[in-house]
Amino acid sequence: MQILKAYSETLHSYFEKIIVTKDPVSLYEPIEYILSLGGKRIRPLMLLHTHKIFGGDIHSALPLAGAVEIFHNFTLMHDDIMDNASMRRGQATVHEKYDTNTAILSGDLMLIQAYGLIGKCSDNSAYADIMSTFNEMSVQLCEGQQLDVDFESRNDVEIDEYIHMITYKTSVLIAAAMKMAAQHAGASTEDQEHIYQFGKNIGIAFQMQDDILDSFGEKAAVGKRIGGDILEGKKTYLYIKALELSSDKQKEKLVALMNDSQMEDQKKIDAVLNIFNDTHVRVYADQLKEAYRDLAFSHLAAISIDEQDRIGLKEFGQYLLDRKV
Ligand code: IPE
Ligand code: IPE
Ligand code: MG
Ligand code: MG
Ligand code: MG
Repeated sequence: MQILKAYSETLHSYFEKIIVTKDPVSLYEPIEYILSLGGKRIRPLMLLHTHKIFGGDIHSALPLAGAVEIFHNFTLMHDDIMDNASMRRGQATVHEKYDTNTAILSGDLMLIQAYGLIGKCSDNSAYADIMSTFNEMSVQLCEGQQLDVDFESRNDVEIDEYIHMITYKTSVLIAAAMKMAAQHAGASTEDQEHIYQFGKNIGIAFQMQDDILDSFGEKAAVGKRIGGDILEGKKTYLYIKALELSSDKQKEKLVALMNDSQMEDQKKIDAVLNIFNDTHVRVYADQLKEAYRDLAFSHLAAISIDEQDRIGLKEFGQYLLDRKV
């Protein structure tokens, strides 16, 4: 994958430089821990690639790339507390390895560090716009996370509510990362909007794949507990569509299963997965993912960029849909 390879090394060296554990170690070490686990780093990679596409110099965008990745990791640290998740990237989550208070405060610090990094671009003429893009996204991400939690206790979540929720909790960060790069590189307002819409729609497909992997992925590849969403009562597309496609009897069983707090974990996961399989929800999920991908690609078609760069972004978009990791 071109984009993944092109900037990985530069990004890695940059993180080595900016992430240092100092006193109090109990505050800084968890930050180094989560960042050292790596992850795919898709947001900073997409940011750097977008910056290059619009004629910007990679090195001047590194603080923005660092900001979005540190911000992303902050959201994961808090998300794992909210989702009772004990494993991420194949290792213990921060609140599990250290404790919840540590994950809260180290996470808070990462949010502040992200703002500090954006501040390094204050000499750019689009600085105020970049800051607005980031602020607007941060508010939406919190709204999305809250909706995700609110939906846990509802059985009547509709597909458009789910799409709104994942747009906010996940896809606006991908979209904002690309828009910030476009703003920093001096792209036109129209191109900024198209690249934002590309990121937003591909981000929706990306979160749908995350939900699919949570139910159907391989633990060794995904690095998270498979079935975690089912145990937490998450209202994913898989669940909502399965309810819609179920017979009355299956429907009753699915709702009862999701609300059963006594049942042994693996038994519950297997029973829900059986209904997902019987109703063939994955076929519908794949179709919807592809529809969002096509919408994303239509925005790419509207930007006047080098054809090779467009192909690179398309390949990357497709990877986000097909990934097993
Ligand atoms: C996980 O994001 C959280 C979601 C928004 C789905 P990633 O799948 O990008 O996680 P890492 O950074 O690669 O581990
Ligand atoms: C994550 O959604 C969204 C944010 C962290 C903002 P998930 O809860 O599905 O992410 P994972 O599956 O834990 O990585
Ligand atoms: Mg979550
Ligand atoms: Mg989670
Ligand atoms: Mg998930």
